[in-house]
Amino acid sequence: MEQKIKLTEDQVNSFRIKTKEDLEQYRLQFISKKGVIATLFEELKSLSAEEKKLAGKMLNDLKKLSEEKFFLAQEAFESTKLSASEDIDLTLPVTPNKTGSYHPLNLTRYRIIEIFERLGFNVEDGPEIEDDWHNFTALNFPESHPAREMQDTFFIEKNPDILLRTHTSNVQIRLMKDRKPPFRAIMPGRVYRNEAISARAHCFFHQVEGLYVDKNVGFSDLKQTLYHFTKEMFGKDTKIRLRPSYFPFTEPSAEIDISCLICHGQGCNVCKYSGWVEIAGSGMVHPEVLRHCNIDPEEYTGFAFGMGIERITMLRHRINDLRLFSENDIRFLKQFKATY
Ligand code: PHE
Repeated sequence: MEQKIKLTEDQVNSFRIKTKEDLEQYRLQFISKKGVIATLFEELKSLSAEEKKLAGKMLNDLKKLSEEKFFLAQEAFESTKLSASEDIDLTLPVTPNKTGSYHPLNLTRYRIIEIFERLGFNVEDGPEIEDDWHNFTALNFPESHPAREMQDTFFIEKNPDILLRTHTSNVQIRLMKDRKPPFRAIMPGRVYRNEAISARAHCFFHQVEGLYVDKNVGFSDLKQTLYHFTKEMFGKDTKIRLRPSYFPFTEPSAEIDISCLICHGQGCNVCKYSGWVEIAGSGMVHPEVLRHCNIDPEEYTGFAFGMGIERITMLRHRINDLRLFSENDIRFLKQFKATY
């Protein structure tokens, strides 16, 4: 039978296609309407029914094989645009790696979560659109208190007031009101304030709130937790300082400063020549706040803190303009890691 077909797989396989000219030769010889295969199909007609069956199958297989070889070679020429007779130039620069990278704020957020998770803190979430009670009143901001002015925001509705939350402290309330103590959680998220946009202020930014409520939680726990955090986050040589402050929802309250990472306490324009940079607000949860959430302050005590993710990221990466985080300039974003 093979004699009659006068074409074998070997003949197809051994045809070397190295150049585009070879490809054309191959096409003419095997694939085209005047090629061997088409001619052999013509010749099938002269065979007996029995022979036709066998020969037809062999020929169909050969047709498939030769076409596959043709399309593969054609595709290879198209994709490489190189003539197969040329050697591949191994010194050519590789195609640039287009893998994306994490946003620097996310890198910081993941790192903060990682540190607190190891101390047994859960991650909790709360709404960005909030009512007045959760954002202010429950946190002990009386209605006309001047502290509200420092956290002016964007209102979605008035009377009753629905607004964009000014801090992540609203999640403290949502957590305590809905569940039973003890609580040990951090709450990262976006917050909003009615501020003019500049290198140091923006109408939205990110915070991580922390809350620890249990029996016998004291100020020393707050201090030790934040001390541990700063060493993990910024390195073991970083110093920490607690500066007395005021928040309506904590008593006593303290700002957490760390020794300036840029000048190591010598004084520079980042730390305004003080040697210290503020990274968080903190304090013992005010008994009134616990009462608003139906927790007995005689039985439970706790501490809370809130830190700015932008501020920490700016210190970690020596970034000097807050606007860079939201401009989406690829030249800025691609400088950060693709993994964390
Ligand atoms: N919510 C405060 C702010 O945005 C920070 C803070 C949180 C202070 C928790 C004390 C306790 O400024």
